[in-house]
Amino acid sequence: MTVHFIGAGPGAADLLTLRGRNLIAASPVCLYAGSLIPEGVLCHCPPHARVVNTASMSLDDIINECAKAHAAGQDVARLHSGDLSVWSAMGEQIRRLKALGIPIDVTPGVPAFAAAAAALEAELTLPGLAQSVVLTRTSGRATAMPPGETLKNFSETGAVLAIHLSIHVLGQVVQELVPHYGADCPVAIVWRASWPEERVVRGTLGSIETAVGEGLERTAVILVGQTLDAEGFGESRLYADDYDRRFRPRGTNPRFPEGA
Ligand SMILES: C[S@@+](CC[C@H](N)C(=O)[O-])C[C@H]1O[C@@H](n2cnc3c(N)ncnc32)[C@H](O)[C@@H]1O
Repeated sequence: MTVHFIGAGPGAADLLTLRGRNLIAASPVCLYAGSLIPEGVLCHCPPHARVVNTASMSLDDIINECAKAHAAGQDVARLHSGDLSVWSAMGEQIRRLKALGIPIDVTPGVPAFAAAAAALEAELTLPGLAQSVVLTRTSGRATAMPPGETLKNFSETGAVLAIHLSIHVLGQVVQELVPHYGADCPVAIVWRASWPEERVVRGTLGSIETAVGEGLERTAVILVGQTLDAEGFGESRLYADDYDRRFRPRGTNPRFPEGA
């Protein structure tokens, strides 16, 4: 018996890895974080699976469900939205399960920021403009930000920011970023990326609050940075015709001669 932690992706039922889908289909118990995972994703559960929405449960309750399944020799598919490496609360569950000697494994998923970038048909890192993406958030009721992890500090790098869990404080985000990125810096907000009702709002730091208006709550990623509206960026050297590389040696003295 194993508790399979599975990144369930941004919401669309077909944006899971094959491994994730197969594990869900093979697990008689499914615990899913229903505040963010639409029920459509549960179509991968086997018929008669015990399917439990953990949105209203405590950590103790969730671990008890896993322990019950463990005692019955039943695998558990534990679904969290997006990928598990960020804001999934997986860490504390793994710690408890390991202490109880319950085996676990982890299957990654498509994170919300990647689904948002896909909705925008955007490459977030473009030559000469940005080569880093900061996945961050603002302080919430349940989680304070560590002192060094401020929007101001991240802004100083000029990196693209993918700001989560913060659509309700958009005004505050804009205020903090304008002095560093400028009011004309491109912004895109993707609400419910990959859901049927997905919405994209584009603007600048100066215009985005008006553009968003009312009605976009929760489940949105705010992307900020020069690459979001870029036309005049350079092409990467990687595919340049004269660029000497292992898979396409070039010049009279290639670094990686064929056959080497
Ligand atoms: C608790 S975090 C979970 C993040 C998730 N583990 C991931 O990999 O993206 C929830 C936040 O992720 C973002 N989010 C999750 N799903 C989203 C989606 N489908 N579209 C836009 N934002 C989403 C929102 O910022 C939301 O407030």
